[in-house]
Amino acid sequence: MVKICCIGAGYVGGPTMAVIALKCPEIEVAVVDISTPRISAWNSDHLPIYEPGLDDVVKQCRGKNLFFSTDVEKHVAEADIVFVSVNTPTKTQGLGAGKAADLTYWESAARMIADVSKSDKIVVEKSTVPVKTAEAIERILTHNRKGINFTILSNPEFLAEGTAIADLFKPDRVLIGGRETPEGQKAIHALRDVYAHWVPVDRILCTNLWSAELSKLAANAFLAQRISSVNAMSALCEATGADVSQVSHSIGTDSRIGPKFLNASVGFGGSCFQKDILNLVYICECNGLPEVANYWKQVIKVNDYQKNRFVNRVVSSMFNTVSGKKIAILGFAFKKDTGDTRETPAIDVCKGLLGDKAKLSIYDPQVSEDQILRDLAMKKFDWDHPAHLQPLSPTSNKQQISVVWDAYEAIKDAHGICIMTEWDEFKNLDYKKVYDNMQKPAFVFDGRNVVDVKKLREIGFIVYSIGKPLDAWLKDMPAVA
Ligand code: NAD
Ligand code: UGA
Repeated sequence: MVKICCIGAGYVGGPTMAVIALKCPEIEVAVVDISTPRISAWNSDHLPIYEPGLDDVVKQCRGKNLFFSTDVEKHVAEADIVFVSVNTPTKTQGLGAGKAADLTYWESAARMIADVSKSDKIVVEKSTVPVKTAEAIERILTHNRKGINFTILSNPEFLAEGTAIADLFKPDRVLIGGRETPEGQKAIHALRDVYAHWVPVDRILCTNLWSAELSKLAANAFLAQRISSVNAMSALCEATGADVSQVSHSIGTDSRIGPKFLNASVGFGGSCFQKDILNLVYICECNGLPEVANYWKQVIKVNDYQKNRFVNRVVSSMFNTVSGKKIAILGFAFKKDTGDTRETPAIDVCKGLLGDKAKLSIYDPQVSEDQILRDLAMKKFDWDHPAHLQPLSPTSNKQQISVVWDAYEAIKDAHGICIMTEWDEFKNLDYKKVYDNMQKPAFVFDGRNVVDVKKLREIGFIVYSIGKPLDAWLKDMPAVA
């Protein structure tokens, strides 16, 4: 029986391995992690991540051919194929701080693999890593190997949160990169055979190692660039009276452009877009390509501009101050159908409003109070470390923040509402009731274009919706960052 072990039971390791176990009943899959609470949660009825369809997949295989364990060394030693899906945060100190990937967790995983292995192994990079990481990992493994052969593959993951199970069941492609040697090609075939259980072979792309590593960074950079492009257009729409939804639709019908990923928003969030672009920028700089680095840096700059612009809209339209005013924050996750808050634009918007002394009442159907308070207290980039290694500083703004479990509770007596996540329930709130329970004038700032602007204006709200023709109230009010 082929044995697979995945180091890292996170958003990628957990769902990916659960789907491999489901689709390959004859393969034994162990997912291991240094975090005991995370593994306990994977073994309980309350999985550590919220992902539609995941519970069902885990229930079908757990205890049969899918196991979650903290016994990292035992499962690595027994495995034929070891996936590594650990954190690859942005460095906060030293060379490349604020840009380069911190490979501490990857390196320690590689050293441990070398230490405990007693048989040949295929080691698969599942985490997103800088180009040429495989070379560094190969060196660590071969210098510590005790006669054992390790073959490195790059198999980056393209799933998106909220649709992870659907993406894994029916991926646009699976990418496998390996050395162009007989051992490299043999390893590629072995991994291709795993995916071929359910992925059509023409969707399994095989490349060299560096192309696979770079393709992952390039794919995220292209996706994020589309959002920054449409968000840049949204600012111009507001200035000219054009409607960004109409512009997106018009350009998206061009088959060369396509309709997806053209929704203007308060900015993109999530654990990877910013991190991976910063990493790409750093690699370009290290390779003497400052023009290329600056091109991609601009994608992040526009994203920061969009979040600042949103905060400025809120403050300037509410008589240039939100001091002491209650603002309801609807949604905190970085997108709907996930409880993940990593790099969510809600953090920057909340921090901006707190800086202007607003009182925030925050509601998200999937995010806990503890998580929100941690996020608002944490320094940039500190979130991307195993939970027990994250700095724990109690928020200094606690008296300005309340976290509630109902949208109507958040809204009660508020001066304004900021919609930060496109949860379906925010489309269907009883906005007449909401209006009646708010201070007047009542403001709605829609960072996700979910509300019916016309209907809300008829009720009496002053509405700001990203990239839509401005409310008369907002005209001539400064919003630039
Ligand atoms: P995550 O933080 O959810 O999970 C990483 C896990 O690795 C944590 O549970 C941590 O405790 C564990 N870990 C760290 N060092 C370890 C070690 N030495 N031994 C055992 N366990 C260890 O992260 P994630 O979102 O799953 O992302 C993992 C990688 O995949 C990152 O490189 C990320 O860029 C990439 N990625 C993420 C997504 C996504 O949607 N989240 C999608 C594609 C790629
Ligand atoms: C993204 C990619 O889509 C995945 O392919 C990739 O594997 C993953 O990053 C990763 O490497 O981590 P994810 O971040 O989970 O997936 O979610 P997306 O759906 O890409 O959304 C990212 C952010 O962009 C969200 O904040 C979302 O609200 C925003 N977004 C997305 C927009 O503002 N407009 C859009 O049109 C689309």
